[in-house]
Amino acid sequence: AENDRENMFALNDFAMRYFEKTLKETADGRDIGLSYFRYRGISDAMIEKFHLGYALEGRDALYKTAIERGYSEQYLISTGVCNRTDDGRVYDRFRGRVIYPIFTLAGKVVAFGGRTLSSEKKIAKYVNSPESDIYLKRRELYGLFQAKQAIAKAQKCILVEGYMDVISMHQAGVCNVVASSGTALTVEQVRLIKRFTSNVTLIYDSDAAGIKASLRGIELLLQDDMDIKVLLLPEGEDPDSFAQSHSSSEVEAYISEHETDFISFMASILMDGAASNPTKRAEVITRVVKTIALIPDEIKRSVYAQECSRILFMDEDVLRREIGKYYNEFR
Ligand code: CTP
Ligand code: MN
Ligand code: MN
Ligand code: MN
Ligand code: MN
Repeated sequence: AENDRENMFALNDFAMRYFEKTLKETADGRDIGLSYFRYRGISDAMIEKFHLGYALEGRDALYKTAIERGYSEQYLISTGVCNRTDDGRVYDRFRGRVIYPIFTLAGKVVAFGGRTLSSEKKIAKYVNSPESDIYLKRRELYGLFQAKQAIAKAQKCILVEGYMDVISMHQAGVCNVVASSGTALTVEQVRLIKRFTSNVTLIYDSDAAGIKASLRGIELLLQDDMDIKVLLLPEGEDPDSFAQSHSSSEVEAYISEHETDFISFMASILMDGAASNPTKRAEVITRVVKTIALIPDEIKRSVYAQECSRILFMDEDVLRREIGKYYNEFR
C-alpha cells in the first residue's frame, strides 16, 4: 500500500510537470492557457511558484504521454488524473482547463483543480481531482506549502476561498494566505493552521455565499480556541479582484485598517435592517451570545462579553449569564 501511495505521488508529479510544460511549450498552452493567466493579471513568477499549468483539449493527450513514459494506467485512474468510461476507455479528466496543483504541507502533489476558460454557465467552472488514498479534501489547505514560512513569521494566517485569491495575494506581497478551496472549513484544516499560528483573519468573498461561509468558519475557529479577525471586502469583491486592482501597500493598509473582531463583523452583517426591530435585535444578540459560548477559554469569553455589551448596547450581566448558560449546554 505504501508503494501504491508513492506511485500515486509520482504520477501526480509527472502530471504536474506535464501540465506546466504544456502551458509553456505548446501553441495551445501559450495561446489559450498562458493568455488566460495574463488576462487574469498573473505574473510568470506566480506561475512558477504555484506550478500552474494547462490541460489540452483533446480527450487523451496526457494519457498517451504518460503511457509512453511507462506510467501504468492503474495510477492514472487511482489519482483521478484520468477517468474510465463504462465501456473501459480511459480519458483525461482535465481538458481545456488551466491547472492549479494542490500540494501537501510537505510539498507533494495530491490533487489538481482545473478551471474552465469559458464563461458559459452550463460548463462547470472547476473540475477537481476526486478524493483518493492520498487526497482527502478536508485535510488539505491550498497554498499552505507556499505560505507556511510567511504564516509562522507574521504569526497570522489569512484564510480565503480559492486558488486565485491565494495567488493574487502572493503577487501583491501578502504571502501568509491559504484557501479552504470552496469546501466548508474543517477541523483538520484548522489544526493544520494551528501548527504555525493561532491567529486567523478570514477574508472570504463579499457575496452571500462568502458571508455564510464566514459565519460558519468563525464558529469552527472559535471552538478550536483560535484568535480570529474578519474582513469584509467591498461588495462583490474577492481577495483576487481586490489584490489585482490595488497596489501592495493599499492591500496591506486595507487589511490592517478593516479587519475587525468577529462580534463587530456579526453585528454589521446581522444587524443590517434589524437594529430597530426588538425581536430581530434579540435574535441577533442571541446568535452572537451562542457564538461567544463556543470559546473554550473563560477569560476570552469574558472579554468578548464586554465587547459584545459595548458593540450591541446590551447589559453585560445579562450577556454573561446567557453565555454561561449556552456554554454549559454545549458541553
Ligand atoms: N471551488 C471548487 N469547485 C467549484 C466551485 C468552487 O473547487 N465548483 C473552489 C475553488 O477552489 C475556487 C473556490 O472554491 O477557487 C472559490 O470559488 P469561487 O469564488 O466561485 O471561484 P474563484 O476562486 O473566485 O475563481 P475565479 O476568480 O477564477 O472565478
Ligand atoms: Mn516547475
Ligand atoms: Mn466564492
Ligand atoms: Mn471568488
Ligand atoms: Mn475570483
